[in-house]
Amino acid sequence: MPANLRRIGVLTGGGDCPGLNAVIRAVTKTAILRHQLDVFGIEDGFQGLIQNRIRPLLSDDVSNILTQGGTILGTNNKCDPRRYAVPDAAGKPVFLDVTDRCMEHFRLHQLDALIVIGGDGTMAVASHFVRQGINCIGVPKTIDNDLEGTDVTFGFATAVQVAAEALDRVHTTAASHHRAMIVEVMGRNAGWIALHAGVASGADVILIPEIPYSMDAVCRKVVDRSRHGKRFTILCVSEGAKPAGGRQVVRKVDPTSPDPIRLGGVGQVIADQIEQQTGIETRCTVLGHVQRGGTPVPDDRVLATQFGHAAFQALMSGKQNRLVVMKGRTVTDVDLLSIEGKQRLVPLEHPLVVSAKDVGTCFGE
Ligand code: F6P
Repeated sequence: MPANLRRIGVLTGGGDCPGLNAVIRAVTKTAILRHQLDVFGIEDGFQGLIQNRIRPLLSDDVSNILTQGGTILGTNNKCDPRRYAVPDAAGKPVFLDVTDRCMEHFRLHQLDALIVIGGDGTMAVASHFVRQGINCIGVPKTIDNDLEGTDVTFGFATAVQVAAEALDRVHTTAASHHRAMIVEVMGRNAGWIALHAGVASGADVILIPEIPYSMDAVCRKVVDRSRHGKRFTILCVSEGAKPAGGRQVVRKVDPTSPDPIRLGGVGQVIADQIEQQTGIETRCTVLGHVQRGGTPVPDDRVLATQFGHAAFQALMSGKQNRLVVMKGRTVTDVDLLSIEGKQRLVPLEHPLVVSAKDVGTCFGE
């Protein structure tokens, strides 16, 4: 164990995600029970570091949280200390660099390293603190599964489970009413959730951001199915899907957030167009945050526990500024700075895309 490793901070940043508590538990229990180190929880992501909301985490604090969704530490997807929004006299946000304040609080609590659990936005901030001299070990989380460097993030399996179940459920209504039924799923600019859930439940059409769709191709599929006796169509649409030559549908722009664009609404746009072009009744269900909430599936609990443990082991073996990742079936780590600013999108020739196409799934091409 490195001699200068006594007190470790842990925080969760970005959107919540099933499995965060399992990571916090794994880190804290391993540190306390196995190595007698002190762990400090930083509340609400980097906001807690800015505002000095840092508290000791004891073994009891992380008891009974393995199966709980959300995060006992709280989180924040609007907080970048390099560009921290504070209201001016008129209530309009002005942006300040509060890095120094964070460094002061880090030193005040005599922390020796940070375990940062988050997605790409959180890792970008962690990289900033690496450059300030803080040893950060990253743990990749996101339901979107779009973090560079790792084959999989925890939270993804749970989101796919929820999305696949929703697709299975709309199937019966689609068949009974002879409708087209759309389920819009999350994922930002990556189509991983739509691809996996769509394949898992045999969706007839899967639309993902990486493959811009043609409305004519989508409608052709819907009409062809009804001509061939299948009087319903199931469509799994990623929130980031966009028409060829067109744009994503933006639900909201939040200038105080490091990633200001919130996508959403493309499912209803497509539903209206299918009705207009084919005359077939079409309904859309937007799953939204249902995919992110609640109990993690066992695979995510296992992965989160492996990642939390690996993050702590990385610190114990003297590693600095690493991101724990899954490569194949092995947990390992990569340089945290090497993933900065990158997103892992679905490759156009991904084997799952190829298999889906070969079993007749339409990608809107
Ligand atoms: O990154 C996770 C995610 O759920 C995306 O799939 C989605 O686009 C976004 O966060 C929604 O963010 P918010 O919770 O701020 O609406």
